[in-house]
Amino acid sequence: MNLNLISIADLSSEEILAILDRADKLKARRNDAACRSILAGKSLATIFEKPSTRTRVSLEVAMTDLGGHALYLSSKDIQLGRGETIADTARVLSRLVHGIAARVYDHSTVEELARHATVPVINSLSDFEHPCQILADLMTMRERFGHLEGLKVAWVGDGNNVCNSTILAAALMGMEMRVASPPGYGPDRKILDQADSLGGGTVIVVTDPVKAARGADVVETDTWVSMGDEAEAAKRVEAFGRYQVNADLLRHASDDVIVMHCLPAHRGQEITDDVMDGPRSAILDESENRLHSVKAVLEKLMVR
Ligand code: CP
Ligand code: NVA
Repeated sequence: MNLNLISIADLSSEEILAILDRADKLKARRNDAACRSILAGKSLATIFEKPSTRTRVSLEVAMTDLGGHALYLSSKDIQLGRGETIADTARVLSRLVHGIAARVYDHSTVEELARHATVPVINSLSDFEHPCQILADLMTMRERFGHLEGLKVAWVGDGNNVCNSTILAAALMGMEMRVASPPGYGPDRKILDQADSLGGGTVIVVTDPVKAARGADVVETDTWVSMGDEAEAAKRVEAFGRYQVNADLLRHASDDVIVMHCLPAHRGQEITDDVMDGPRSAILDESENRLHSVKAVLEKLMVR
């Protein structure tokens, strides 16, 4: 059986905890040359339909640190961009490499890649989910609080791909999540129903950011204008005006609150400079943990 990571819910809570344990170990062993045998001789094709800093760099450095090799394939530069089918791309890459990571506009593209590939496929962001980001986020929360179960997580802003994956993770890991979005920009109904069916945590959707932030251990946000939403930018900036993570909002959260953002940020829109650079920010740890957590994912999927 092929093993993929398309949705965070492809993993059970036990598998997530095992990945986080392994990521902690790999973080402690960052400079241990013995890690270079873990993926020795393995290659990962990384397809990007959209720009990336953290995802691209973490995948490439992870493969290098584990002794393997990553290939950066902009969708514009490979034949996929000229109309070669997703299925043929998946079949051919499966004969050449040991894994495929893909950042795509349409979630169905990464699902189709996975259907036709015979090597593991990793969703490195689609319009619907961003599972690799959420593993780094969970790792960061656990580093700060020592546990995940029972954590109160407030999401303030767009009910987007990162929000969707966080909701599923909250349900899997027994967290209490409150999402505050402007009317019409809340998370997808399918995701909320799926979270319900996973049991475990609770997910509540509100419109008032203060209601979400009250007593929260984690306050999380993301851009108001995701990649692919650019045509609606002006309308969105208008709709999201009061959904900003700032010092006033944080006054309602727990005294030990941490602030998270997957980045890239639009400083002065969804988050203020003082919060982003302030003492409650866990944002740079979150970015660094993309590397350690994705190593654990690559090892799980590619060492068989
Ligand atoms: N957080 C994240 O996925 O960042 P990039 O778009 O830079 O990869
Ligand atoms: N929601 C953002 C995340 C970027 C990492 C986007 O999809 O553009």
